[in-house]
Amino acid sequence: MQKSAVLCGLGAYLPETVVTNDDLAEIMDTTDEWITSRTGIRERRVVGPGISTGDLAVRAGARALKSAGGEPVDLVILATTTPDHPCPATAPFVAHRLGLVDTPAWDLSAVCSGFLYGLTAASSFIAAGAARRVLLIGADAFSTILAPADRGTRPIFGDGAGAVVLRPGDPGEPGALGPSVLGSDGSLRELITVQAGGSREPLDPAEPDQEGRYFTMQGRSVFRHAVARMTAVTEEVRERAGWRPEDVDCLVAHQANRRILQAVAERLGLPMERCALHLDRVGNTAAASIPLAMADAVGRGGLLPGHRVLLTAYGGGATWGAAALTWPDITPQPDGRERASEG
Ligand code: UT7
Repeated sequence: MQKSAVLCGLGAYLPETVVTNDDLAEIMDTTDEWITSRTGIRERRVVGPGISTGDLAVRAGARALKSAGGEPVDLVILATTTPDHPCPATAPFVAHRLGLVDTPAWDLSAVCSGFLYGLTAASSFIAAGAARRVLLIGADAFSTILAPADRGTRPIFGDGAGAVVLRPGDPGEPGALGPSVLGSDGSLRELITVQAGGSREPLDPAEPDQEGRYFTMQGRSVFRHAVARMTAVTEEVRERAGWRPEDVDCLVAHQANRRILQAVAERLGLPMERCALHLDRVGNTAAASIPLAMADAVGRGGLLPGHRVLLTAYGGGATWGAAALTWPDITPQPDGRERASEG
């Protein structure tokens, strides 16, 4: 019988520093009222000086490995848009710090869809027998690439990391990944971008304030595309899984904006009570958003063993995706009821 990837470990990590909407209103032209009503976000976590995406990834990865029983893995995938360095990839050093010797490890770049792209890649390795156990980490420190006083981006994004461990198993067992669908449309690359710092437009040492060195987003267009794509791809996956809308126990959508989640849920015929909602406390954590929301939902009793779960995301590229799974009997590290933080 064809092997399926089965979710068997989940870990979450958030940096300690909390930035509230009122904190932001002190340094830029915004208000708590605007941010809360337009996004649903009340606060976010940010890394302190000297803390990198790799540091977040190591902590979430260690927690996922512990949650999965501590067995080593034979593949590490790190989904991120904010690697520690342009070169080399961050994943090999993360694997090394986790004590994983000679283990293949690479970074995956699909912005906010990175975790779902990674899930499909990990699951394909397992199904093909090319890997037994995979550690998939979604980690980002977007605060390090935002313009300091940009009110269009700084209120939206937060830093964090989430990770899962996948093992081979039976397609019918709890935790088994079901169908997944991915997509991209590169004609929309300018909607979400850091223009400078790559080979097309290298950083100019003579221009410390070079235009294009920071992250930019055309929010209104992204909003429209995100709702349309996440709705369509989630519906496609739900149908391929053979589930009716009423069969879905929980939608874990990329935590970009509460209004986006509401629009997607409404179009899919799902009440908001069946949607994971974590962004109020962490903002948009990019590649970390889905595993962080899963850990939070488990802690709040929104994800129980046997639940039928749909995951979906939309991000820069443009990229998008969705996947179905039956929730396993696992305990995330830390339990989502605690505050995932330093240590
Ligand atoms: O993770 C990848 C996917 N990303 C997303 O899904 C993000 C999708 N987009 C969004 O979530 C929303 O577009 C935002 C939250 C980014 C912006 O909300 P919006 O309702 O689309 O606002 P807007 O950009 O259309 O701006 C409306 C007004 C503008 O003022 P005028 O032109 O109407 O006078 C903005 O200048 O709000 C102003 N504005 C702000 N005002 C106070 C923009 N940002 C702020 C702010 N505080 N932080």
